[in-house]
Amino acid sequence: MRALTWQGKHDVRVETVPDPQIVNPRDAIIRITSTAICGSDLHLYDHYIPRMKEGDVLGHEFMGEVVEVGRGNKKLKVGDRVVVPFVISCGSCFFCQKQQFAACDNSNPADTADMSEIAYGYPMPGAFGYSHLTGGYAGGQAEFVRVPYSDVGPLVIPNGIADDKVLFLSDILPTGWMAADNCMIEPGDTVAVWGCGPVGLFAVQSAFLLGAERVIAIDHYPRRLELAKQLGAEVINYEEVKVREALAEMTGGIGPDACIDAVGMESHGFSVDNVLDHVKAAVGLATDRPHVLRQVILACRKGGRVSIPGVYGGMADKFPVGALMEKGLTIKTGQTHVQKYMPRLLDMILEGKIDTTFLISHRLPLEEAAQGYKMFKEQQNEVTKVILKPQTVH
Ligand SMILES: NC(=O)c1ccc[n+]([C@@H]2O[C@H](COP(=O)([O-])OP(=O)(O)OC[C@H]3O[C@@H](n4cnc5c(N)ncnc54)[C@H](O)[C@@H]3O)[C@@H](O)[C@H]2O)c1
Ligand SMILES: [Zn+2]
Ligand SMILES: [Zn+2]
Repeated sequence: MRALTWQGKHDVRVETVPDPQIVNPRDAIIRITSTAICGSDLHLYDHYIPRMKEGDVLGHEFMGEVVEVGRGNKKLKVGDRVVVPFVISCGSCFFCQKQQFAACDNSNPADTADMSEIAYGYPMPGAFGYSHLTGGYAGGQAEFVRVPYSDVGPLVIPNGIADDKVLFLSDILPTGWMAADNCMIEPGDTVAVWGCGPVGLFAVQSAFLLGAERVIAIDHYPRRLELAKQLGAEVINYEEVKVREALAEMTGGIGPDACIDAVGMESHGFSVDNVLDHVKAAVGLATDRPHVLRQVILACRKGGRVSIPGVYGGMADKFPVGALMEKGLTIKTGQTHVQKYMPRLLDMILEGKIDTTFLISHRLPLEEAAQGYKMFKEQQNEVTKVILKPQTVH
């Protein structure tokens, strides 16, 4: 089959690789109809995430049709249309039982789990197309994919609803939703969201749906800020004003009740701390550039809540731990427990309460995936989300 493979920093290529096979009884094989490029894929593209190997198949946001089902799967049948969560979860371990699917203890094979255990204290769960830290599973930017524990993750989608309307259930919609849910929004709250990429924009949408009175969105790309405005947010362009001062002014000097870091480890901007992080990362002395996280902690009101959907991978320095403690902030973060949120969000899509299609700016055949990555990385203003169509015939 054809699949997008990682070859090194800024080098991804569509190649012919072996077709996936059923390995375990609970596996299924899916023929991919739509798959998307994620901001998290850019961290691999920029080689910020360790443990990538040449030839790894990328992609963790995908949906398609079931073409083969292992004998241990009583849930799916051939022909079902499914959206697959990016995180791989067994459904029965201590964590899955608590619906903390992104903490699953069984989905990361022992040898690769050991690596994340050294880095993080405990092993990470498995995930599709996201390095050998998360199991080295082949991803879904491909014609076909093997889905382990396929009786747990995939959500069956009714026929008659277009891929574009439901594809984002695989990651960014639940991620935006969990980011807002983690803000524990109370009536009258003002929520500030750093980053108007897909995750930030869905966090804006979700914050309103969860009862926020005001949402303030921060970025520097006019097109992305415009989309946030269309969702009802007030906006700040961080290249034009000082963010913390602007937020204080907009909230009567108090600061936002809750703040969401939807940027993560590759923060842009020329603040002193970020330039220093850039230099340290370039010479291998640092892993992450947590400028936004620092700003979030300083800007949030005393006693406020901080939600971090943005991905961080290693260690951060110059971290304002004093402000965090002295202001009594609450922090919630994590990879998204996608399976927990999917059914409710699908209902909201079917009821017309959520429409995510506004985000899609480009649709490309899989063969043009490398171009899609380059565009998503270099033209962030216009390129808000790229969908790849592996079944497009040439
Ligand atoms: N927790 C999860 O499970 C999960 C799932 C999906 C994505 N993510 C992460 O969420 C983050 C956002 O993903 P995305 O797809 O929206 O990415 P993206 O790269 O499309 O968007 C990031 C946005 O942040 C903006 N930004 C950069 N520096 C900024 C600054 N200093 N202040 C304000 N805005 C700034 C950029 O201009 C860009 O618009 C990434 O780190 C991604 O890895 C996490
Ligand atoms: Zn993603
Ligand atoms: Zn589990």
